[in-house]
Amino acid sequence: MVEKITLKILRSIPSKGVKPTVEKYSVPVFKGMTVLDSLLYVKGHLDHSVSFRYSCRMGNCGSCSMVVNGSPRLTCQTQISELGTKEVEVRPLENFPVIRDLVSDYDEFYDKHREVKPYLIRRDKTEEEHPTSEYLQSREELDKYIQFALCIKCGQCFHACPITSTDIRYLGPQALSQAYRYLTDSRDQDNHERIEAVNTRNGCWGCHLAESCSEACPKGVDPSLGIQLLRRMVLGSGHKKRQKG
Ligand code: SF4
Ligand code: FES
Repeated sequence: MVEKITLKILRSIPSKGVKPTVEKYSVPVFKGMTVLDSLLYVKGHLDHSVSFRYSCRMGNCGSCSMVVNGSPRLTCQTQISELGTKEVEVRPLENFPVIRDLVSDYDEFYDKHREVKPYLIRRDKTEEEHPTSEYLQSREELDKYIQFALCIKCGQCFHACPITSTDIRYLGPQALSQAYRYLTDSRDQDNHERIEAVNTRNGCWGCHLAESCSEACPKGVDPSLGIQLLRRMVLGSGHKKRQKG
């Protein structure tokens, strides 16, 4: 068991012109200590100005996502001992603007998520607002989308995607796989708006099948598969591909 680690944190404040620099902190390690615990130690004992985001501390909210020793991780779920090194480097996720230190700006990520209408759409709008009964599903109907419903919006697939890093307009693996999740839900009655939103060069046709999104996902979601299934669904719908957007 390592007794002390050097925690290297990439720090910056872009809005104030403070350029990225790595700062080093010596952190004592206890049994079961996570990377998030080590950041909390720094904040509590060594340097209160270090900034990072977290909430649930149980792998459910996705807000503690960072790059740890080169790989995207949920820091609350990553124990220091499993890294097997005395040097741990923590950086913010790629493909997100940095607000300060390890805190990233998720606005664009959520805007893209919003673009695919991540909610159930009903033909009867009055019924959509005021449901008159439960919409029951069979086990088979649930199985069609349940793995995609496990997404916690941590952004690690967005970080890993090579298309997202080169084309800011690309909707990205999280939003596209969520489009598939809702289109496959038997309670959803939209067969137009959501398909229109993804049937573009920057939508489901922008994916180059790198599959790095699926490797990165800490929740076992396979966004790459979702995008391929979405393409099949879009082709089957008979919608013409939009050139713009
Ligand atoms: S698909 Fe996985 S990696 Fe992407 S945002 Fe959802 S939980 Fe995170
Ligand atoms: S703090 Fe919620 S997933 Fe880590």
